[in-house]
Amino acid sequence: MLREGPMIDAHRVTLAAQDDFEGWRDAARDLAEAGVPPSAIIWRVDGGPDDLFATDATQPKGASFAVPRAFIDLAKSVVCHSDPERFALLYAMLWKLRTNRNAFEDRADPLVDRLERLAKEVRRDVHKMHAFVRFREINDRFVAFFEPDHHIVRHTAGFFVRRFTNMRWSILTPELSIYWDGEALTEGPGAARAEAPGGDPLEAMWKTYYASIFNPARLKVGAMLKEMPKKYWRNMPETSLVQPLIANARTRELEMIDRAAAKTGLKHALEAERSIEPGGNLRASWEALFKEARGCTRCDLYKHATQTVFGEGPLDASIMFVGEQPGDQEDLAGRPFVGPAGQVFDEALEKAGIPRSQVYVTNAVKHFKFEQKGKKRVHSKPNAGEIEACRWWIDQERSLIRPPVTVALGATAARSVLDKVVTISKVRGSPIPLAEGGECWVTVHPSFLLRIPEPERRVEERQKFVDDLKRIRDRAEKLTA
Ligand code: URA
Repeated sequence: MLREGPMIDAHRVTLAAQDDFEGWRDAARDLAEAGVPPSAIIWRVDGGPDDLFATDATQPKGASFAVPRAFIDLAKSVVCHSDPERFALLYAMLWKLRTNRNAFEDRADPLVDRLERLAKEVRRDVHKMHAFVRFREINDRFVAFFEPDHHIVRHTAGFFVRRFTNMRWSILTPELSIYWDGEALTEGPGAARAEAPGGDPLEAMWKTYYASIFNPARLKVGAMLKEMPKKYWRNMPETSLVQPLIANARTRELEMIDRAAAKTGLKHALEAERSIEPGGNLRASWEALFKEARGCTRCDLYKHATQTVFGEGPLDASIMFVGEQPGDQEDLAGRPFVGPAGQVFDEALEKAGIPRSQVYVTNAVKHFKFEQKGKKRVHSKPNAGEIEACRWWIDQERSLIRPPVTVALGATAARSVLDKVVTISKVRGSPIPLAEGGECWVTVHPSFLLRIPEPERRVEERQKFVDDLKRIRDRAEKLTA
């Protein structure tokens, strides 16, 4: 507990909702500026109107102070946690930051550690909600029931609006329900599972889809169960397929071992066995993905490009670089970043002390988009639909590799990784936590450096890029130490 003994002259802050980040931020800022210590505040949610921000009127304003952006980003996640102490813990951190702007960087501080853990649990819950919500079609509306562990429903609403913009849908949860009618998002009261619809023809669609993407070589039962906790299974039509698929996968694995034994003897058979143990089949999973991607027709770009340019690099890389899309030379070579932008990228990596052979390099969009101008194929920027269609592949790459650090090179990559539009200059230089774990760093695209006409500025910007990469290298080393 943060407080001891009776609270005298307490400041009560009653927030409007469980996930009221703005309410917490405004009250916390005023209280901290007025010098009110953590022990003098009681944080509550949704009390009577009389005690709403009870401190405002009586607090003399003190000097304002800035807090690191990373703390604000973390606070937005932590506020959604179900831990009743979250607001007080965040305020305790803010209180430290008031006198030490670097306090949040002290990873040995148990408070920082606890906040990081809370944020991680929320991000994981968000990731699960993104992945496991399943809609049933009821009349002209799609309805899903989901039980998050934390107060994340509003937090995730934007994701579902973007993914299913043209559908009318409702997501019912015990705490709160949200409805989208194609134009506006509204909220309603929570719902019990019994109020949610059961099976319907849409399940058949999900099952077909799920069986078609299910690849036995990718099966890691432990990981799958961890990712898809039993409580979600009831809501997911494809779970009725899981047992037969697992059984079939194991049969195929055993056939593989038999073949290896017949061909090359016991030693190789044992190696084959090892390679399909949980965690050991990562390479096979990636190769299956790579093969699937070669036939990608998720958008029209495949029609004119030479081939899919998939990511490459070690699957245990601690850094994943994401570019925009292959250029002319990459399209011909079938490998990312091998043309002029690739040269700039390689040079900068070398200066930053990052061996390219140790990082995974991929693109947000896997086919070259261009306009034919005479004999030249001139790069053309992928649009939102193409980025969205291709997110399927990069999401799969990221969930296989799970890099602690993902680097978005330029705005398209940042949009793909963060699922929102960002301004590079605003987000450059500090980590952005990702819902599925790990963090994203945004920097410029190497081709931006190629286009700078003034020599002096070009040198300056290249140096800034190298400096970003050095910071990223240090960070990845720290996270994997
Ligand atoms: N630009 C990119 O974004 N990716 C490549 O692979 C090459 C150029």
